[in-house]
Order: sequence, then C-alpha cells, then structure tokens
Amino acid sequence: MDKFVIKGGKKLSGTVEVSGAKNSALALMPATLLNSGKNIINNTPEVSDIYTMIKLLNHLGVATNFCDHNLMLDTSHIINQIAPYEHVKKMRASIYVLGPLLARYGYAKVSMPGGCAWGPRPINLHLEAMKKLGAEIQLEEGYITAKSKKLQGTKLHFDISSVGATGNALMAASLAKGTTLITNASIEPEITLLAEFIKSMGAKISGIGSTTLEIEGVDELYPSNIENIADRIEAGTLLTAAAITRSKINLEYKNLEHIKSILSKLEDSGVILSYNNKLIQIDATKCSSKNVDIATSVYPGFPTDMQAQWTSYMSLANGISTITDSVYHDRFNHVPELNRLGANIEIINNSAVVKGVQSLAGAKVMSTDLRASASLVLAGLAATGTTEVLRVYHLDRGYQRIEEKLRALGADIERVSTSEF
Ligand code: EPU
Repeated sequence: MDKFVIKGGKKLSGTVEVSGAKNSALALMPATLLNSGKNIINNTPEVSDIYTMIKLLNHLGVATNFCDHNLMLDTSHIINQIAPYEHVKKMRASIYVLGPLLARYGYAKVSMPGGCAWGPRPINLHLEAMKKLGAEIQLEEGYITAKSKKLQGTKLHFDISSVGATGNALMAASLAKGTTLITNASIEPEITLLAEFIKSMGAKISGIGSTTLEIEGVDELYPSNIENIADRIEAGTLLTAAAITRSKINLEYKNLEHIKSILSKLEDSGVILSYNNKLIQIDATKCSSKNVDIATSVYPGFPTDMQAQWTSYMSLANGISTITDSVYHDRFNHVPELNRLGANIEIINNSAVVKGVQSLAGAKVMSTDLRASASLVLAGLAATGTTEVLRVYHLDRGYQRIEEKLRALGADIERVSTSEF
C-alpha cells in the first residue's frame, strides 16, 4: 500500500506532458475482440486500470504485448467468453467485453459490476440495448449471460446519454445483421474515437461525433491500429493544480476542443490562459481566484470526472460556489476529507456549497475513488504543512505516475510505502 506525502505551498513551474486517455483505451481494447488478428493501440497510458483490462482480455485468450505505451492485442485465439468476478469487481469498465463477445461469438457471460464508491451505477441501458439487438439475457448467480444466434440491427434510443452503453451498443451493432440507428448516443471524445477505431476495422458507421449513429452491420471486421487521444481529465487536473497553487505552467496538450468547458471555467476564475498548437499556458500567479459555480453534464459540458478537483480549487476561492453533479448526484466522497484539511463545504440538496477559505492546513486524508484522490492531492499541494493522502491505489487506476509529473513541476510530493490502510 502506498501513500503520498505532500509538503504543500510550493509554486509549480515548467512544462508537463499529458498521458494517453484511460477511458478511451478501456473502450478501444475490448473492441479488438470484434476481429481476429493483431491490433495496436498507441499512446496507451501505464495505469492500473489498463493492466486490469489486459488481464481480463488475456483470460479470454487475447495475447498482449505492452511496451513504451504501444499496446499490441492479438485476438486470433479466443478461448472463452466469460468475464469472471475476480476481474470485473476491480473495474466496472470490464462490462465493455459484453457487446463484442456477444456479437462475434453469440455468447458472453460477464459478472455483474457492483455499486461503486459513490453509489449505484446501473447497467440497465447496456442490457436493454443488447436485448433490442436480439440477445436473450439472463441474470443469475451474479452473472449476466447473453446469447444470440445473430444480432439484428434495430433502433436504439437511450433515455440517458451513456458513454459505456453507447460503446457496447456500437460494438455489438457493427457485427449485427442489418442497420442499427442509435439516438441520444454519447458524443464523449472517447466514444468518437471508439467509433473511428471500429470503422478502421471495416465497420460501416455514419454520424460519428454526433448523437445519432447509423451502423450498417458487416459479416467480418479486420485488425487495425489506432493512436489514442490524450487524457482530457488529466489535462484538466494538471491545469487545476496550477490554478490552486497560483502557479504558471505549460501543458503539452493539443485537443483544446475536448476541454473547452474546463478552460472556460478556469478563465472565469481569473487565471490567464494562452495557447499555441501544442501547448496551453496557464498563469495563475496574479489572480486571487474567483468563485465559479459548476454543474456537470455530458460532453461538451463540464465533466463529472473533474468535479472533485474543481471542488478543491473552489475551497480556496473568494466567495461561495455551488457545485452540482448532474451525472452522478452523490459523487461527493471527497467533501468530508477536504473539510478535514480546513475546507468549508456543505452538501445541500445534492450540491456542494463551498465557502472559500483563506488557507487549508495539511492532515492525513483518505482516497476513496480515483477523482476524489486527485482532489485531495490538489488540496495537499496548496495546503500549509504536510498532507498525507492514503490509499493512492485509487489514483494509480487513472493517472500515470502523477507524483513524478508534479515533482518535475516543483511540487514536494513523495510516494511512500506504508502499512496504514
Ligand atoms: N446510467 C444508467 N444506466 C446505465 C448506464 C448509465 O442509468 O446502464 C447512468 C449512470 O448512472 C450515470 C449516467 O448514466 O448517471 C452516465 O453514465 P455513463 O454510462 O456515461 O458512465 P460510464 O460509461 O459507466 C464513463 C467513464 C466514467 C465517467 C462517466 C461519465 C469509463 C471507463 N468510465 O463511465 O469515468 O465518470 O463515463 O462521463 O469511460 C472516471 O474516469 O473516474 C470515471 C468514473
């Protein structure tokens, strides 16, 4: 078990590179089950969720080689279609194997993902989509069993926009017989990239990047290669690290349109941003941050995966801000921990009401999930004294060695092995 020991109050400076996106890689990897042969995903981040997905795919028979962020997946010898509890319990994104296994092999058995740290995360939309495509679904002994001779194209409308359910439906429909129309599809960049990857395998998909996707099923798909996008949430987290420490840094990140909502809120808070075609510069040295409300929503809105980090930032802003998470109403596990550092945050009717304080003071705090951990690290960087963030394995799920990146920018942060839990 590792913890981070952060001596706060240091200004950050210099240039930092953003790693490949975890959430897109987690969708691209199972998509390779749609074909037979060697696929390559470049710019894959070295984070523990990727290793969890590799283990699950290895269990299904996918041969992998992961070197220097290039991930090769050979799907020539699939030996089973069962995603067991041991793998799925570690990561909900394991549900992504359902659609491709069912479409290609007519059978998939996947352990049901449980709740998550901040509450229920249902998979009804995934299951309804598979049913509409013609699968017979049974839920027993903690497993979803899906069977179908050949999936049939259909009309799918998602009442709630879902990243994962759109991804699963897209993968399944690409090998179905006939045409599938998906409406209210997710337009998150990770899903757009997934659609482009499947298209590069030979799928017939139109409307990529829009909320209406039309997929004309084909009989076979072929191995392909793709360059993963950079992680928009890591980009937002690093920019917010600069903002909360009143620093000036450069971020190597090109996809400005992916983080428009974050950049706009940062500017509202008073930081100065400038750009060229590969760098974003954030200068927070001259600002005393203004309070800025956020309400998370689906892309291109402010991402729920940046809500906890924003809450940390606002805990040191001037004035009161209201933080509402419209995607996951209860995603506020970070709030009691931030309050232990001296923040003044109250949850009122599913919103965090953050009264900015003059300073935070270091303490021991506990990570409860990936983004909550990131928010505690940001708070620790800005706090006076020493902050210890326990259980950083949550952080390691989605940030590639973030302590090294922050240290290179001048932060005083160490990873320390501990028996504390
Ligand atoms: N939902 C349902 N039924 C479903 C699926 C989703 O009601 O069958 C609801 C959810 O409860 C939520 C909303 O729909 O209120 C959106 O959830 P979505 O399905 O879009 O989330 P996801 O695919 O499970 C991905 C990311 C999450 C991120 C969300 C929202 C991956 C692997 N995970 O999850 O990332 O928060 O989209 O953007 O892509 C993270 O990286 O920290 C993380 C949690």
